[in-house]
Amino acid sequence: MTEAITLIIGANSEIAKALARQVAVKGDTMLIVISRNIDFYQQDIFAHSHAIKVNDYTESEISAAVNKVKEYAGQTIINRVFICHGLLHNDNCQPEKRLEDFSANAFNEIVSVNAISPMLWLKHLTPSLSGKADCKMVFFTARVASITDNNLGGWYSYRASKAALNMLLKSAAVELRRRAKNIKLISFHPGTTDSPLSKPFQRNVPEGKLFTSEFVANQLLDITKQAAVDGELSFLDWQGKNIPW
Ligand SMILES: NC(=O)c1ccc[n+]([C@@H]2O[C@H](COP(=O)([O-])OP(=O)(O)OC[C@H]3O[C@@H](n4cnc5c(N)ncnc54)[C@H](OP(=O)(O)O)[C@@H]3O)[C@@H](O)[C@H]2O)c1
Repeated sequence: MTEAITLIIGANSEIAKALARQVAVKGDTMLIVISRNIDFYQQDIFAHSHAIKVNDYTESEISAAVNKVKEYAGQTIINRVFICHGLLHNDNCQPEKRLEDFSANAFNEIVSVNAISPMLWLKHLTPSLSGKADCKMVFFTARVASITDNNLGGWYSYRASKAALNMLLKSAAVELRRRAKNIKLISFHPGTTDSPLSKPFQRNVPEGKLFTSEFVANQLLDITKQAAVDGELSFLDWQGKNIPW
């Protein structure tokens, strides 16, 4: 008998898949996943999960997906949400090494994935999450979003998009403190984790510092469990340690 729901968005990310696997194996909550690609969720271990396919992360698709989540959830509370979106590079964008590499088009695309889509999920999900029961919402950001910690420079668009997400979440935490005290927001840095996103940048990672997605997922589930519902946005790394803003 499941008494709560775990919702994973951007569920085809390597880290999201590891999270989903661990949640499904434990089996103590219902699992709902949302992604543009749900092939991974056709496996037997997800037989009792619900997978929602979106075409993209525009507001109309997000709104329609949230309606499907509500149908699957019924009266069951959603107590954990993981929003895993992230874009660092693709055919149109590469992390900038110098000012001359900066492109308005690439910046717009990266901000759209890394800041706007997560904010739209928060907007559309909040009415379904508000209530008496605790709900913890984790947004994947990155240590490079820290302005204090930026000693290397570069990666203009990725850094700025994740810092923008942090600021959006900070304002949201202030608002939720008034209207949905049960929701806790966490901005999470997984550490350098073996995935398509980090693949081109793994060469200089020190020995033992390239994490598996299974390790990070396990850490994150513990961190989420321990987080106090305190009306604050926490910016935490994979050890559960605070990252300076
Ligand atoms: N891996 C690392 O070393 C590392 C370090 C710091 C922070 N992070 C952050 O951790 C999160 C998960 O990363 P990962 O390493 O698991 O990445 P990944 O395996 O490459 O997954 C990429 C994720 O981003 C979404 N995505 C990619 N391109 C998109 C686009 N054009 N439009 C909308 N969504 C798009 C995917 O959504 P679909 O499910 O719909 O495909 C998927 O959720 C990201 O937010 C990333 O920035 C990762």
